[in-house]
Amino acid sequence: MPAFEGTPVRAPRPFRVMLDFDTGSLTPYTDSFERRLSDMAVAYEDQDAVAGLLSAGQDPVIYTGYDADVPHAADHLPFRTTIINPGVIGSEFFMTKGHHHRRDTAEIYVGMSGSGLMIMQTRDGHARSAELVPSAAVYVPPGWAHRTVNVADTPLVFLAAYPGDAGHDYESVERLGFSRRVHRRDGGYELRPAAAPDREFRAGP
Ligand code: PA5
Ligand code: MN
Repeated sequence: MPAFEGTPVRAPRPFRVMLDFDTGSLTPYTDSFERRLSDMAVAYEDQDAVAGLLSAGQDPVIYTGYDADVPHAADHLPFRTTIINPGVIGSEFFMTKGHHHRRDTAEIYVGMSGSGLMIMQTRDGHARSAELVPSAAVYVPPGWAHRTVNVADTPLVFLAAYPGDAGHDYESVERLGFSRRVHRRDGGYELRPAAAPDREFRAGP
């Protein structure tokens, strides 16, 4: 038997999964994930609202998702569904944590149901947003951090596919925040500049 070093990468055969565009279920899936408010408390602007909910024992599920059985390795193309529940923290809509890819690689998002907004920004301060609705495909270029926000009162469901060696860097987004935030306003949404985009500054020293 030959000796192998590291984690062996399987050579999968072609396969298909079934997607439910309404619920976001991906069948069969290998992994699933769930993020509650307490997993991303620092992400929201209204820290009094966060503290109020958590101290009252309320820790809502913000989003869940399902991963297809694809190796996280170069040359592969992992894909997953995400379902963001409807809701607000203060007046800021439920959203994903958001991240940079560790290696600057692109990603493609496809809207399946509901209505959302993608917030994207570069490390040198450029910012863009794109509505994510059923049948829309949003291209996230290399080097753009991305966060997805549910701006409706129904679940936001979407599919995303990314290079297997992209990696997820949540730390820099947690530290610096996004420069734009999405709040509920008059039955719709409003995109606002973050009150304190420089989290390092706010946190000191
Ligand atoms: O690959 C992606 O960018 C998405 O599938 C996200 O991972 C997913 O929407 C969850 O968001 P986050 O990874 O920021 O928690
Ligand atoms: Mn990504």
